[in-house]
Amino acid sequence: MSRPRVFVTRVIPAAGLDRVREHCDADVWTEPLPPTADALRRKVAECEGLLSLLTERIDGALLDAAPRLRVISNYAVGFNNIDVPAATERGIAVGNTPGVLTDATADMAFALLIAAARRIVESEKYAVAGRWKTWEPLGHIGQDLAGRTVGIVGMGRIGYAMARRCNGGWGMRVLYHDQRASEQAERELGAARVSLDRLLADSDFISVHADLNDSTRGMFNASAFAKMKPTAVFVNTARGPLVVEADLAAALQSGTIFAAGLDVTDPEPPAAGNPLVGLRNCIVAPHIASATVSSRNAMAEIAADNLIAGLRGEPLRAWVNPEVSAHRRRAASV
Ligand code: DGY
Repeated sequence: MSRPRVFVTRVIPAAGLDRVREHCDADVWTEPLPPTADALRRKVAECEGLLSLLTERIDGALLDAAPRLRVISNYAVGFNNIDVPAATERGIAVGNTPGVLTDATADMAFALLIAAARRIVESEKYAVAGRWKTWEPLGHIGQDLAGRTVGIVGMGRIGYAMARRCNGGWGMRVLYHDQRASEQAERELGAARVSLDRLLADSDFISVHADLNDSTRGMFNASAFAKMKPTAVFVNTARGPLVVEADLAAALQSGTIFAAGLDVTDPEPPAAGNPLVGLRNCIVAPHIASATVSSRNAMAEIAADNLIAGLRGEPLRAWVNPEVSAHRRRAASV
């Protein structure tokens, strides 16, 4: 029997790609940059499976151009790049990679927090530029961490892991804002669930771990930054469009808040002239939170398993739209 045709939109770790190649007739996009929308449409036209990245926009029009597609396996925990209702309507299973990048992402959030609070990137540039002439009693003064207050926006797996680092390692009080209460965070970390306004006003560090959707898009705007302390450090390792970047840049330039550490921007990479890039008190990293050996390998394994399960008509290991019930799914051929 012929193997199912799949398109893989980038070279991912062998831990997953080898399995995909073993089970499927895989067309792998080997360019460093993502396929254009046109190239993606051409590539998936005859495919039964798609292994995508967060850089690919997968909407109803694309799905209509791929009538044989039965599964989309996203190599990411986030899936805001996919129109999931459109996939569900068409009986297409969607998978993601939760659970295996939690610690790596929380580590990155904490790294950004401490680097922004202690002005590490700015100081390193100062040293490299040859401006370090002497020990400066009034120079490079940052914010203390121990015993302060962290505000977690989105107390899911990653938010909890970040809160645990702040509370266990630095003795911080934890506030959080989420639609749902986290019994675990309240019991184990003494976290208090508060309104967003209270969190913004009372936190020394604000770390964002919320999903991007219509109700969270742009939630960090001028009005939100105005409620923060002038000493506040803002960290975003979730998604760029949660933030109105012009408002964040203005807040950083005017001293409304102290500093920011960002692993995500809107768009990615930042457009030319983005005021956040190069700003003294803003660290911008190129979306690397999950970039550790074990996280990326485990993501590749789950993505391969999701793809193969979807092609076989079996439940996905991490299934975003399990409501695509067996009878509605496009028929399996393997
Ligand atoms: C994700 O998985 O959603 C991250 O943003 C990239 O690993």
